[in-house]
Amino acid sequence: MSVTYGKDTKTAIQAKFDAQKIAFAPIMFQAALSLRNLGILELIKNRRKGISIEDIAKELNLSVYGVKVLLEAGLSLEMVMVEDDLYKITKTGWYILCDELTRVNMDFTQDVNYLGMFTLENSIKEGKPTGLREFGNWTTVYEALAHLPEKVKKSWFAFDHFYSDYAFPEILPYVFENNPSKILDVGGNTGKFSIQCAKYNTDVKITILDLPGQLDVAYKNIAENGFEERIDGFSINLLDHSKPFPKNADIVWMSQFLDCFSQQDILHLLNRSCNAINNNGRVYILETYWDNQKFEASTYSLHATSLYFTNIANGCSQMYHSNDMLTLLDKAGLEVEKVVNNIGVSHTLLICKKK
Ligand SMILES: C[S@@+](CC[C@H](N)C(=O)[O-])C[C@H]1O[C@@H](n2cnc3c(N)ncnc32)[C@H](O)[C@@H]1O
Repeated sequence: MSVTYGKDTKTAIQAKFDAQKIAFAPIMFQAALSLRNLGILELIKNRRKGISIEDIAKELNLSVYGVKVLLEAGLSLEMVMVEDDLYKITKTGWYILCDELTRVNMDFTQDVNYLGMFTLENSIKEGKPTGLREFGNWTTVYEALAHLPEKVKKSWFAFDHFYSDYAFPEILPYVFENNPSKILDVGGNTGKFSIQCAKYNTDVKITILDLPGQLDVAYKNIAENGFEERIDGFSINLLDHSKPFPKNADIVWMSQFLDCFSQQDILHLLNRSCNAINNNGRVYILETYWDNQKFEASTYSLHATSLYFTNIANGCSQMYHSNDMLTLLDKAGLEVEKVVNNIGVSHTLLICKKK
C-alpha cells in the first residue's frame, strides 16, 4: 500500500515566508506561551475596545519594554492586532488562551518536550529517546511516568487523557454490542476506560495490563469507584514477548497504546492479542492515524506528536499511517471486521477478528 500526501503550489514568496516561520518557531512559541502565561492575552481579551502597552504593563506589573516586545511578536503571530496603539485579541489569540485542545498541546510541548527536543537529531541517529535524559536515566517514558516532576506528569496525563476522554463515551456501545463478559484493557494506564466499562455494564469483568507504577494509580481509582470485584490488574512489561496475555478474553482492548511501540513490537503484541481472545473474540484498536484526519490541524499535530515518541517516549514508535497498521494486522492473522472513523477528536476504531 503506497502513501500519497502533500502538494507544492505556493508562490516563492509564500514559501520563503513559511520557511522563516519554521526558522523562528521555537522563539515564537515561547512568545505565545509568555503572552498566555503572563496574563497579557487575558487582559486584552477582557478589554473589548483595546488596551495600550502602557496600561497592560501597569495592570500586570510588567515593564513596558517586556510587554512591547511580546506584543510585537504577537502581531506577527496574528494573536493580536493593533489600531491607534490599542491592542485587541484575534481569533488565533483566543484559541491560544481559551481552547482546551490548544492549551493541552502547548503545555505538553513546553513541559514534556521542549528541552529534550534540542537533541532530536541524536534520537534519530541513536534510535533512542535522548530527550528523556532531561528527566533522568530512563529507557522509556512509561517507566519514568510515575516519577516525573509533578508539572511534567500533569501535562503528560492531560495530553493523554484529553484525547481518550472525548473518545471513550462514543466507543462504549461498540464495545458492548456483543455483550462481552471478559475484557483485557492492554495499556490501561490509570483505569479510566475500565472504570467507564464497569459503570456502563454491571456484569463485565476487566483486567488491566500495564506497568506496576501505572497500576498503583489504577488500583486507587478502582477502589474509589468501588469496582475491586470486577476490575483487576496484571502487572507486566508488555515488551517481554515471551509472556502471554491472560487467556479467554471476549475483547482485547488497546487504546492509544500501539502507537507506543515499533512496528516489530506491534506485530508481537497483535499476535499475543490474537492468542488471548477466544474463537469468537475481537481485538479492538483505537488509534489516531495521520491519514484519517478531517482537519489539517489534526494531521499536523499527529506528525509533531510522532517526534515526541522519537525523542521522549522510546525512540522507535510514532503516530502511524493506517496502512502501517492494516499491514501488521494482516501479518498477525487478524481481519478488520468494522472500521469506525471520526471518533472523539480524531480517532479510528478498528474491530478485528481472527482470520
Ligand atoms: C499512551 S498510554 C494510553 C493509555 C490509555 N489506554 C488511554 O487510551 O488513555 C499507553 C499506556 O501503555 C503503557 N505501556 C507502555 N509501554 C508499556 C510496557 N512496556 N509494558 C506495559 N505497559 C506499557 C503505559 O504505561 C501507558 O499506560
